[in-house]
This record gives sequence, C-alpha cells and structure tokens, in this order.
Amino acid sequence: MSTAEYVPSRIKSTDPLHEPWSLTEEEREVFRQRSRASRLARQAALAGTGEEPVHEVNRPRFDPLTLMPSCDPNGLTTLSLFSGGGGLDLGFDLAGFTHGGSWEILRDAAATLRLNRPSWVVHGGAAGDVRDVDWLRYRGSVAVVHGGPPCQPFSNAGKRRGAADPRDMWPEFVRAVREVQPEIFVAENVAALASSTFSDYVDRTIIKPLGRQYRIQRVILQAYEFGVPQVRRRVVFFGFRTKALEARWVEPRARYLRPGGVPNGLPEVMGVRKALGLPDIGHDDVSPTIRSGLTGPRHTTSILNSVSAQKRFEALQVWPNGVAATREAARAFVAKNGHFRLAVADVALLQGFPDSWRFAGATYMQLGQIGNSVAPPVAYAVASSVAAALAK
Ligand SMILES: C[S@@+](CC[C@H](N)C(=O)[O-])C[C@H]1O[C@@H](n2cnc3c(N)ncnc32)[C@H](O)[C@@H]1O
Repeated sequence: MSTAEYVPSRIKSTDPLHEPWSLTEEEREVFRQRSRASRLARQAALAGTGEEPVHEVNRPRFDPLTLMPSCDPNGLTTLSLFSGGGGLDLGFDLAGFTHGGSWEILRDAAATLRLNRPSWVVHGGAAGDVRDVDWLRYRGSVAVVHGGPPCQPFSNAGKRRGAADPRDMWPEFVRAVREVQPEIFVAENVAALASSTFSDYVDRTIIKPLGRQYRIQRVILQAYEFGVPQVRRRVVFFGFRTKALEARWVEPRARYLRPGGVPNGLPEVMGVRKALGLPDIGHDDVSPTIRSGLTGPRHTTSILNSVSAQKRFEALQVWPNGVAATREAARAFVAKNGHFRLAVADVALLQGFPDSWRFAGATYMQLGQIGNSVAPPVAYAVASSVAAALAK
C-alpha cells in the first residue's frame, strides 16, 4: 500500500462533479509551477510582448451541419436528462424532434442550452437535479426520453467505482423511464460500460429494471464513422416499448472510413488538419479521443486523455494543452514547440458541434461541456434511427 501523503487542492471546486486527482504536496507544486509559467506566458502573449506568432488564424473546412441537415418537425416530444452542453439535444433537435425539457445540474451547461435555444425549457442548477423530479407528470406526452448519465464512474480515465460512485446516476435515468414510459429511451455512455467489468452492473441496474417493459439493444458507435474527425467509441442503449417499434428500427450505420483505413467503399472522414483548415504537412488523421469531463489536478484547459494521445497530436503538429478562448488568442500565444494551438471553437468542431453553437462559462468549463458531450452528428444518426422507427 502506498505511504504517500495526499493533500487536497487549495483551489475550491466550483462544480460538484469535478474529480480532483490525489496528489502529494510535491506533485501539486509541480502543477502549480507549470500553471504559473503558462499564465505568465499567456499574459505576455495577450499584451503583445510574447513570441512572434507562427500561424495564421485558421479558417475551418469542416461544417458539421452538412452531416446533420435540419429535418421538418416530426411532432414527437423528447425529454433530456443530464443534458450537458447539448450534444444529444442538438442531434434530436436537428432530426426533427420537439424538445420537451432539459435537466442539467451544472449552471454553465444549462446556460449553454438557453444561449443556443432560448425557447427551450431548461431546468438548470439545483432545479435541474434529476433526483428531485417527479416524472409521472410527463407520462403520456413523451415519445423519447434520452440522456447520458455521468460517465466518470465507468470511464477508463476515472477510478471505475461503478455503482459505488456517488455520481452514478443510472438508477435515476431508469426511474425517469419507468415513470414517463416513453415509446423509446436512448442512453449513452463510455464504451467501457459495455465491457465485461460492468456486465453485472448493467444487468442489475439497467436490463433487469427496464427489461420487462422494454426490448433493449445496445450498440457501440465510433464518432469518425459518422463524419466526426475524432476517435470516440461510445455505447448507446436503445429501449423499445413494443416489438413493432424494435422491428422497424435500423441500427445507425457507418458512413465514413478513417483516413488510411482498409477501403470499404465509404468516403474518408476529414482529418484534424483538413477539418481545421491547417496547411498540408503530408500527414493527417482523426483526433485522439478528446478528454471527457471535468477531472484533473486542477481545472484544466488540456484536452489530452492519454500519453498515446500526446504522440498523435505531436504527429499532427497540434498542441492539445492550454486551449485558448478564441482563435485570435490561440494565434498570439505561441506553443513551446511551435505547433498549432487550439481554440475552444476548434475543439468544438473536432467534436462535431457547428460553429453557430456557443458554450457558456470559463474556458475549462466550455471544454468540459464539449468533452462530455455526444458528438452531435452521432446524436443525429441515433435520433434519425429512432425517428424512422416511430414514423407511422
Ligand atoms: C456525460 S454528460 C452528458 C452530456 C450530454 N449528453 C451531451 O450530449 O452533451 C453528464 C451530465 O450530467 C450532469 N449531471 C450529473 N449529475 C446530475 C444530476 N443529479 N442532475 C442533473 N444533471 C446531472 C453533469 O453535469 C453532466 O453535464
């Protein structure tokens, strides 16, 4: 057993879901110094006394809206739990569903939804806590309940405590479905939830309580196969109230091939450099999985998820740390190795959000919302498959 003495961070967390790392005082000091140096360099860059910029402000070539043409309203109402910055909500919206309400505990994420869709009914902050909602009042008026319960309890990046994690909200999602009794439910999570490690958990928490009323299918979806320039595997559970609905449903199918993948008749998805409109360097590929959630030693503006991701960003000549608030700020703040520094708008694009979708909150919070989201083109494919099954 480790004898290291862990000390809490001096920075008070501003959100209930931040998962600080366990670090010793020495380890914390390393992060503090790194942050301090980075802060000073950023300030110098913004004051115009930093290094001469080496990149132009980029003009992206990828427009996620081409993957998600807006459908006519289909008259079917959805309820959205754990809405975050709106990845799933946006996909269902563009696929023609009527947004019946969103519940999201983080104020900034709720503000994002209101910013983009002022007409939506958004329950945010304490009023958005799904644990306090009586869902029975929605019974009979809702076609689809969807949501992505927090993935940290199951994520490879987290401590994988599953049901022992106080953030495990699956029982709340299950309660909502049982009380609302929608025609179809859709729930998304990290692919690890479909692994054998959690098979008992899934049986006990999802399949058993819902299996008598719903026929449940689970599929693993890969973001780049739906046109998003990123490797991102997620599991989606679909629950159908009737046999007929299940029979009419067609699983979302891959539409794109990864650059350099074995040719299969599908077009190649754009790589990061092409998508962001960066000059050709003779190498391009999809982005490694963008870090999800608001975990880390401090509130982070890095999108790195793993050591191997670092190498892949290096090969792309993209700097994944210290993501800047704007493209202009990214250009001014030259990365140590001269690689292209990302702005929040670039990260949003690599996740498949259209340029018009804005995020509320500080930079780390905007990145947290992006990294936590279902890539909208994936959400759109999911929503379209559900709409087709529900079409009379
Ligand atoms: C994985 S994210 C969902 C992302 C969303 N599906 C999307 O596509 O953008 C999970 C969200 O659940 C929210 N959350 C956690 N506990 C909650 C609770 N008790 N009530 C409402 N929202 C909660 C978190 O703040 C987080 O934004």
